[in-house]
Amino acid sequence: MMENDLFVAARDAMAKAHAPYSKFPVGAAIRAEDGKIYTGANIENLSFPEGWCAETTAISHMVMAGQRKIMEVAVIAEKLALCPPCGGCRQRLAEFSGASTRIYLCDETGVKKTLALSDLLPHSFETEILG
Ligand code: THU
Repeated sequence: MMENDLFVAARDAMAKAHAPYSKFPVGAAIRAEDGKIYTGANIENLSFPEGWCAETTAISHMVMAGQRKIMEVAVIAEKLALCPPCGGCRQRLAEFSGASTRIYLCDETGVKKTLALSDLLPHSFETEILG
């Protein structure tokens, strides 16, 4: 399966989660336009609202590597068989994705469900006024 490397990268990233409060580790892996994989885990904070999601960490790594286009994404959570990105992360993924960008929802054995970004974020915020 082509996306198996993304699944493995997301699972490895999940092992690095800092989730002492929710005890809900999440991992994400993005394949960018350069063909490389950028990973992330959720990083929580004692001041609860200051934590952030695995997808956000992965996007940060991608952007700081100079990449601006997401080709595909894998997400995995230790305690939830299929963990769809939260609302905020859908919007963040949309910033660097197209409507058909594939999101792979994984369990501990591999990719279990494939969605398009437009499935996750229909009727998304778009305007030419902001450029
Ligand atoms: N979480 C993610 O990392 N990604 C998601 O898409 C859903 C939620 C994290 C945030 C928080 O650290 C924990 O899961 C529980 O909400």
